[in-house]
Amino acid sequence: MKSICVIGIGYVGLPTAAMFASKGHKVVGYDVNEKAVNALNKGKIIIEEPGLGDLVKQVVESGNLVGSTECPDDCDVYIIAVPTPINSDKTADMRFVRSATEAIVPHVRKGNIVILESTSPPRTVEDLMLPILEKSGLKIGDELLVAHSPERILPGKVLEELRTNSRIVGGINKKSSEAVKEVYESIVEGEIFLTTSTTAEMCKVMENTFRDVNIALANELAKMSEELGVNAWEVIRLANQHPRVNILSPGPGVGGHCIALDPWFLVEASDKSRLIEQGRRNNDSMPTYVKNRITSLVGRLDGKRIALYGVTYKPNIDDVRESPVMHLWTLLKEAGAIVKVCDPHANEKLEENYGIYDAAKDADIAVLGVNHAEFERVDFGKLASVMKGKAILDTRNYWSEESVNNAGLEYHLLGKSENMDKWEN
Ligand SMILES: NC(=O)c1ccc[n+]([C@@H]2O[C@H](COP(=O)([O-])OP(=O)(O)OC[C@H]3O[C@@H](n4cnc5c(N)ncnc54)[C@H](O)[C@@H]3O)[C@@H](O)[C@H]2O)c1
Repeated sequence: MKSICVIGIGYVGLPTAAMFASKGHKVVGYDVNEKAVNALNKGKIIIEEPGLGDLVKQVVESGNLVGSTECPDDCDVYIIAVPTPINSDKTADMRFVRSATEAIVPHVRKGNIVILESTSPPRTVEDLMLPILEKSGLKIGDELLVAHSPERILPGKVLEELRTNSRIVGGINKKSSEAVKEVYESIVEGEIFLTTSTTAEMCKVMENTFRDVNIALANELAKMSEELGVNAWEVIRLANQHPRVNILSPGPGVGGHCIALDPWFLVEASDKSRLIEQGRRNNDSMPTYVKNRITSLVGRLDGKRIALYGVTYKPNIDDVRESPVMHLWTLLKEAGAIVKVCDPHANEKLEENYGIYDAAKDADIAVLGVNHAEFERVDFGKLASVMKGKAILDTRNYWSEESVNNAGLEYHLLGKSENMDKWEN
């Protein structure tokens, strides 16, 4: 069994620490946030994740996991899981990785292992961390082993995915990769692939970039379709019959703290990343595009009443970080519209939140921003009876055109032209 320090006990670090502790390792969760540390030492958690509360309680009670606001001595392994956000100019903000690495230096000794789990721009281990770790006086790659092992867990399924996902371990040399593989083998059932640290960094960032660029392509298709008299959703359905084509869905933009941010790491790192940058900009343009579509349906936004359904960055979660619909909301308010939001999942995050039919009272238009399950059962007759206008804009292809039109409302769909080619009977 090893003694392990996990630096940063947030969405990634805490489940990782708890999993290692559940396998009998002695784990310290070190964090600069006293609130998180105090909660942990009481066996409690301050984030939402199914099953995590019970596991943390169990491993804290067993004495295998403790929280600390001080970086501990005498650990075999130091795992860094701190945030890697971007600055307002879209460059990577590496302050947390830098300070976490500096915090380790006085404590590491011969034979220790340092693992970076945070999603980081390629070359972070080689160019940012190693020069700092060298200050320990240890021979890097021999007396101090270092690797990047990116985390790919899905919020909501974190404990299961930590165990079953495959894992990439990118060491600065073979000895580091093999030692780090052995560390993860105690919690990971999936296959563990060994490579270099920079390749591992590139893999994780490219996984998120792959999705971002493909969503950008779907959004571009939506914009072109509206111009060219077609319905993008029908194009996608038919084109995806091709055995080697899988076009993703368009929408009001890309959100969350991974896919909407990580591609910028590549844009900063290399000027060869033209397609990636264009994709990012295309996805970032979608809230403005949707705002303009709303304007084309109701006229000048000043004084118009808008019911906005769903503001989180994806369906059925409470997370509004980098949410494109939150951005749309701001744009609508800036244009003078009176926006009433209804989001049954984001209750904690919003100062004002209306019920489905209260949000629509006297509305000129109702806009579906996020396809939460609760919105599947909207009674459009009831919606029509409280709305002033008739327009419905669906940005997710989620509501039934027939049900909306049968209620006397007018269905409009992001990506579907208002001037569709008609078949003559
Ligand atoms: N959340 C996810 O679903 C997810 C999935 C895959 C990868 N990642 C990546 O994992 C990394 C961590 O993300 P997260 O969501 O867990 O972040 P988080 O904000 O939930 O947690 C990070 C924690 O690190 C602490 N911290 C910051 N600087 C510190 C320092 N110098 N020393 C000690 N503690 C420090 C913070 O107080 C916070 O509690 C990021 O790079 C992220 O991109 C996240």
